[in-house]
Order: sequence, then C-alpha cells, then structure tokens
Amino acid sequence: MIRKHAQICAISALILCTAVNGKKGGTAEFWHGIDRDSTTKHIAESVQLEPAALQEALAFWKWKYDHHVPTWQPDYKIVSDIIRAHKCKIGCEVGLAFGTQSVHILEHTNVTLLHSIDPYIPYDNGTFPKGATAQWMDVLALIVKARLAQFGDRSNFIRATSLDAAAQFTDYSLDFVYVDGDHSYEAVSADLRAWYPKVTVGGILIGDDYTNRFPGLKNAVDEFVRGNRLKITHHAGGKYVIVRK
Ligand SMILES: C[S@@+](CC[C@H](N)C(=O)[O-])C[C@H]1O[C@@H](n2cnc3c(N)ncnc32)[C@H](O)[C@@H]1O
Repeated sequence: MIRKHAQICAISALILCTAVNGKKGGTAEFWHGIDRDSTTKHIAESVQLEPAALQEALAFWKWKYDHHVPTWQPDYKIVSDIIRAHKCKIGCEVGLAFGTQSVHILEHTNVTLLHSIDPYIPYDNGTFPKGATAQWMDVLALIVKARLAQFGDRSNFIRATSLDAAAQFTDYSLDFVYVDGDHSYEAVSADLRAWYPKVTVGGILIGDDYTNRFPGLKNAVDEFVRGNRLKITHHAGGKYVIVRK
C-alpha cells in the first residue's frame, strides 16, 4: 500500500513538473490529454517496478521525448497533410514511439478510425528506442495507450508487431497505412508485402525515412515498387506514397 502510494506520488510529481515546464512539442505535450489521476494509478498498478525504478523509467522517456520529438515535429504535418489530401477515413500507423504522429492525425484529419500499432519490445538492432528494458517499454506502452484514449472510439491501440497486426485485417479494408516501424531491409520488405493488400484500391501506403541514412529501407521500397509496377511519389522529410492498384 505504502509502496503503491509512493509510486503514484513519484509519477504525479514528474507530471506536475513537466506540465509547468511545457512548451510546444516539449514534454508537457507528451502528457497532454492524459487523465492524470487514473492513468498514473493505472501505470503504477500495472508495472512491477519499485518506485525509484519507475521514476528512472519515466525520466528516461522524458529525456528521450525531448531529444527526439522536436526534430520529428515537422514530419507530423507532412503525413497528416497526405492523409487529408487523399480523403482517407480509416487507416493504421505502424510504429508509434510516443504516439505523437497518431495524435496529430487524430487532431488534424477527418480520419474516423486510426489503428495505432507497436509491439513495445526492446530492440538490439538500432531501432528506436535504444537502451530501454522490457519494463520500460511496458511503461511507454501504457502512457501512449492512455494518451490515445482521449480520442475515444476513433482510436484503436494495438500492442503487436507489424506482421501480427496485419494478419488481423482483411484485404482492401484500409484507406491508408503509414509504415514507420523497423527500418531494416528485411522488415520493410515484409511490412510492404503484408500491408499493401490491406489497402483499398486507390488507397495509399505511406512510408518514412526514404533517405541515404537507411539504404536497406530504400532498397526494400524500390524493389517492392519495381516488382509490382507501382506508382510512388516522394515527399518532404523522406516520406513516400505508394498508391494501391
Ligand atoms: C521511428 S519510431 C516511430 C515514430 C513515430 N511513427 C512518430 O512519427 O512519432 C519506430 C517505432 O517502431 C516500432 N517498431 C519496431 N519494430 C516494430 C515492428 N516489428 N512492428 C511495429 N512497430 C515496430 C518501435 O517500437 C518504435 O516505436
């Protein structure tokens, strides 16, 4: 009981501190929309971490958020603009990190149902985020799930790998899929093969990081487009769009 109370206090103090320090794209945004009391209680009850270890996990995510999200911020609008321009209503984001792109899509498009997919498991292949333990990933998954809950039944959080999640969808059922998970050649090839059939004719597959930083990803995309004689357009921020035939 005392331990649980200490956990809740630790998280509440961190949230309060970040809220007053908030700036656009900063840590306060990360917590935006979370029903603080119930969420923090839920996290404290769900993870099996001592208060100090829980505080360490939250500090890690806070630092990671401030490190990454301000640089990713311009990309959120690019993806939402593409989704709006194609008048998409139902789709998926694969690979969420802090869930900020999903939040942006739900706030800035007419999407009626967004499936937000991420396994939240530790990676040793350079995939974001480096250095997180399984328990820390549990903490992030709970935070992102709570963050997306503000959108009610427009949002469906799925904690699963891209391929396991894709198997849950029927063909031609999605207007768009935004693929931003594992960036390796093998994973991107598998993602494109798995998700393309799920998109409706005229719908779109959107991808990220088609840049020289990710040669394997570029090869996988080029091969898929060439092999299936598809149209691809390239957009700012390394985004690409493939239209479903
Ligand atoms: C670059 S981050 C995503 C950034 C996010 N789309 C955004 O714009 O804020 C990559 C994410 O892919 C996830 N990921 C890695 N392997 C995955 C897989 N097999 N299936 C789905 N997501 C995966 C990681 O957990 C991580 O959250």
